[in-house]
Amino acid sequence: MNFDSMWTTLLPIGRDPRTGGYRRFVWNAAEQECRQWFLAEAAQRDLDARTDQNGNLWAWWGDPDGADESPGAVTGSHLDSVPAGGAYDGPLGVVSAFAALDLLRERGVQPARPLGIVAFADEEGARFGVACAGSRLLTGSLKPDLARALVDADGISYAEAMERAGHDPTRIGRDDQTLEKIGVFVELHVEQGRGLVDLDAPVALAEGIWPHGRWRFEFAGEANHAGTTRMEDRRDPMLTYAMTALAANKRARLTGTRATFGRIEVEPSATNAVPSRITAWLDARAPDQGALDQLLADIGRQARDRAGRDGTVVDVRQESVTPMVAFDAELRRSLARVGPTSRELPVLPTQAGHDAGILAEAGVPVAMLFVRNPTGVSHSPEEYAEPADCHAGVEVLASALEELLAR
Ligand code: GLV
Ligand code: MN
Ligand code: MN
Repeated sequence: MNFDSMWTTLLPIGRDPRTGGYRRFVWNAAEQECRQWFLAEAAQRDLDARTDQNGNLWAWWGDPDGADESPGAVTGSHLDSVPAGGAYDGPLGVVSAFAALDLLRERGVQPARPLGIVAFADEEGARFGVACAGSRLLTGSLKPDLARALVDADGISYAEAMERAGHDPTRIGRDDQTLEKIGVFVELHVEQGRGLVDLDAPVALAEGIWPHGRWRFEFAGEANHAGTTRMEDRRDPMLTYAMTALAANKRARLTGTRATFGRIEVEPSATNAVPSRITAWLDARAPDQGALDQLLADIGRQARDRAGRDGTVVDVRQESVTPMVAFDAELRRSLARVGPTSRELPVLPTQAGHDAGILAEAGVPVAMLFVRNPTGVSHSPEEYAEPADCHAGVEVLASALEELLAR
């Protein structure tokens, strides 16, 4: 299967030899090398390759602009990663898309509508903080002015980074022409949990995505000397942050939700000074919107109570939010039997965000396929899927597409 050779070519791009992890951030050198890889794969297959106005990559089999064509069946995922991310989250869906297309051609399938392969830009939001920026810009759920003004850790704006990579940032925003070409979208993704291990199955269909979001907590206090300032005279925001992180973890454990502080910045960040400010980002997720709202309210209240005792001030801002996503139930039913056996594919919910969720919110019929992950570990260099399961994923994806291309 061509999957293996594509996987081998993509694997070393941007991999840190020390940790084995990736930092493929939108518009950085490694991510742009991945884009070159995508364009080379498209060219090898004689596909019509394009970069849309929001920096998403497309490769079409068939003419998506043809006046008589039905809107396309689209598959793909993303090529960017989280900091020190794994090889599979994103790239598995893109490599599998090309491999599934090859399989369809081998099977002699004559598509009744175009097949599109997509690599969405900046799914992880690792550089500028907003997840799924490429698909959100495409659907209009991220406003172009807001996106252009986002800045990375080096103070480079989204607009500047895009321009340096040779794309015109004045043209970003809702793109109806491209959206209209997506009749249906199937995203294949490595599973980010152990659901399939427990079910002893290589591939599942997704049911939906938990509502989730990112919040920036600013804890402000007073910088002071670490030796001469008496413990009782301090206004130390680190304490307020630390207690808030513990409270968030406890709330999430008690309520069956998820709360993670995975990134903080400390000012002035000196070993011998009480800090003046802690900025901490909370990622929170829950099975329904009510539970997510309650979780945020509880964490915010506990942070403010503690700030009152520490003499500090807390400010909480939402940076991005994705509501509950339920994938198209009819589409899921129609794809339930494309698996390797006569059994229906299992169906799993997910707590992870995906471009598929953004398209579903915009009204596109969407399905997702998950490929078994033996440890469930993701967003880490340890992320993995067995080659045999990746191949099974390609087979299932090809069969799903075959079904969709016949319509
Ligand atoms: C994306 O992988 C997310 O769920 O944050
Ligand atoms: Mn991810
Ligand atoms: Mn992903």
